[in-house]
This record gives sequence, structure tokens and C-alpha cells, in this order.
Amino acid sequence: MNRTISFAAVALLIAALGAASGTALVVGQRNRPDPSDPARHITLKLGHALDQQHPVHKAMVLFADRLDELSSGAVTVDIIPNGQLGSETELLEQVQHGALAMTKVSTAPLESFVPEMSVFGLPYLFRDEPHFWAVLEGPIGKELLAKGAESGLRGLCYYDAGARSFYTVNRPILKPDDLQGLKIRVQASPTSMEMVETLGGSPTPISFGELYSALQQKMVDGAENNPPSFHKTRHFEVCKHYSLDEHTRVPDLLLVNEELWQQLPPQVQQWIEEAIEESVAYERELWQKDTRDALEAVQKEGVTIHYPDKTLFADKAAPMLQAFNEAQDEASERIAALIARIQEVTP
Ligand code: GCU
Repeated sequence: MNRTISFAAVALLIAALGAASGTALVVGQRNRPDPSDPARHITLKLGHALDQQHPVHKAMVLFADRLDELSSGAVTVDIIPNGQLGSETELLEQVQHGALAMTKVSTAPLESFVPEMSVFGLPYLFRDEPHFWAVLEGPIGKELLAKGAESGLRGLCYYDAGARSFYTVNRPILKPDDLQGLKIRVQASPTSMEMVETLGGSPTPISFGELYSALQQKMVDGAENNPPSFHKTRHFEVCKHYSLDEHTRVPDLLLVNEELWQQLPPQVQQWIEEAIEESVAYERELWQKDTRDALEAVQKEGVTIHYPDKTLFADKAAPMLQAFNEAQDEASERIAALIARIQEVTP
């Protein structure tokens, strides 16, 4: 998908955002905006798919509050949660085309816009949590955030989304063979499809918001996600087995329309970056606690937690990573080089 936004589109975006909030969005202004002057008030709309109790939503609320404080009320973030504005792919399109200023998505649907993001969908590429964060916080993580700008989607930060594991309605996944014949919901991402297929299941892409009823109606036999999401979506009401194989670490990402970003006054960019830094630190703390609480809560609701031997899954998935080294096309070569760099990172 190419970047199609033009300066005219940005002007429209600004007008739309201003009209929606009843204020005007000022672009290119060098001085500190005056909160008492509505013509200098900026409202940034941020749509996402998560529940309001989810730690990532709470962290974005802190981002909005801090930005409001830092700018003395001159810059407001209007958060629209729960997929009210559409699926994550639709949210990305809206930001890319300028209908929405910001979104928070998983890197999985982002890989259709920024192919390099597919590395996060590769099973067991990250050895453990410290390795994962060393990559995200180092040069590779920063490069990947900036990469989105070429598609009109500037990455601002990563939020912790833990590790993803399988949960199923009827029987537990204790080894890859247990996936045989099971339909497993995946995100809108070719890498997630391939991951489930390589491990032996039948991947079925369904949007996050439609998954509860898909599980209930037995359109799929299971899905995969991190503990807070498994809990907050109440998928545990249908799926009674959660197998912590931790096959991938797919982060969440906050993005802004690139052209809008470029037109924000440097002072506003600085406030946004500062507020984000605090929100990221807050989310990392919340995440740890929420993961423990979620696992406890789902067990109380009758879910059995399983701890399968991860090496069985990693061995079965290994050819998926290997395939990039053998492929001859330019895109695969780029990903293979990125994989090699990631593997070399030490915390
Ligand atoms: C996680 C992630 C969401 C994503 C969801 C999914 O919960 O935080 O952004 O939508 O996974 O599986 O679709």
C-alpha cells in the first residue's frame, strides 16, 4: 500500500480534526500555543481496538493526560477505544489517508504496510524477554519505528504486549501435533497464518472484535494471545485451556500520520515525545502485574493453564526462519538480514 496522502489531504485532515473537536488545529506555528485561544487548540484523534480496562489503553490515557498538562491544555488526545472506528487494518488505513491522526495497533496487521514488521511474527526469534527489549530499545527497534514514515505511518513507541500463546475450547495444545485439524484464529498477517500452518493447525483470520462470537459459534477451535488480552476479551468464557507455549512476542505500536507529524510545531512534537516516554514506562509496569492478575483470574473462572515444552514448538517452527535465508527475492533477503541482526543482539 502506497503513501497516498498529499498536502491537500493534510489540510483536509486538519480541518476535519478541528471541526470534529470544535476547535482549530494549528500547523506550522512556532510559539507555544495559547490554551485560551481556541484557534490554537490541537485535538488528535486516536482510535484503537482494545478494551478500556486493558493496560495499553490505560497507558494511552496517561499519555493524553500528561500531554494535556505539558501543553497547558493546548494539545488534547481524544481516545476512541474498542474498535469503534474499525479493525486494526482499517485504523491503519484511516491514519495513512489522514482521516485519523493516531492509532495503536499490534505490529501484526502493520506488516502489510511495513514488511519489516513481519519479524515480530516469527516464532521464537526472540530468545526471551530481555533479548526482545534489547532489540526494541536498540538501533533495530528505532529503525523499525522510523520505517513506517515511508508509508505515511510514523511509529512513536512500542508498548509491551508480552508473549502470545494458544487457547482452545476443548482440548489443550501440549505439542505441535495437538494443533492438527484445529482451526485457529490469527491476526490479519501473512506471518501469523504461516506460523499456525507451520506448527500444524489451520489458520483462520478473524478481526479481534469478532473473535468472541466466532469462538462461541465454533467457527474456530481456538486462538492465541497474551494473558491480559485473553482475560479482557472474556474469551476464557469459551476457551478453557490456555497453553503457555509463548510462540511469539508481537509488540503494540503507537503511530501517527507522518505528514501531520511533520507539520506539528517542534514544541508540540517534544511534548508528545515526553508524554509518550512516561506512558511507556507506566505500561511496562502495569503489564507485569496485569499478566499475573489475568492468569490468576482466568484460573478462577475454570481455565486450566498448561506449560508445554517450548522446544517442541520452536523445533517445528525453525524452517519458517530458515526459509528467508534460502529465498532469492529481494524482500526475503532484507528480512533475512534483519533476522541475522536480531539474533546477534545481546541484552
Ligand atoms: C493483542 C493486541 C491487539 C490486537 C490483538 C489481536 O491484544 O494488543 O492490538 O488487536 O492482540 O489478536 O488482534
